[in-house]
Amino acid sequence: MDGRNIILTGFMGTGKSSLGRLLARAIGYRFVDTDHKIEERYGLSIRQIFATQGEATFRKLETELVRELAGETGLVIATGGGLVLNPENVALLQQNGRIFCLSAPADKILERISLQPGKRPLLDEPNPRQRINELLTQRQAAYSQFEQLSTANDDPQKILRGLLARLRQNS
Ligand code: S3P
Repeated sequence: MDGRNIILTGFMGTGKSSLGRLLARAIGYRFVDTDHKIEERYGLSIRQIFATQGEATFRKLETELVRELAGETGLVIATGGGLVLNPENVALLQQNGRIFCLSAPADKILERISLQPGKRPLLDEPNPRQRINELLTQRQAAYSQFEQLSTANDDPQKILRGLLARLRQNS
């Protein structure tokens, strides 16, 4: 590895944090989860930030954090699913990092997010399945600009091995 950051992005429930943690451990990088960092820093959950300050404020906090992280090296960064919709964040992260976009079928996403009820304010809807499909459609163009990595297969170690092989091939 050359020290450049490795960024895992993609829709909610595609496994960014789980894979990020495994990857960081495997290559000796530090793991940062942007949602986690924001929650820690402001002492509020993402849900509370959305409810009390609104999504626009949350997006500003994301960009502030990205400015800091882009100046560091040796990080595996798992982003919140909407962070890369802002081209400014993408440009900052790409200065010093390689971005992979994780993907999974909508059914898998629904299954995974159902295991953590109430955690995702954007999916607080009577019909989360429909909302997931709408958001996936809206975000498709933004997500497709990055190297793709499918997490439809549930074996994290297998996904990790595939990613490590790709990182070693063209590092
Ligand atoms: C969001 C994804 C969430 C979190 C926030 C908004 C999004 O992170 O940042 O609820 O816009 O897709 P995860 O992708 O980790 O669930």
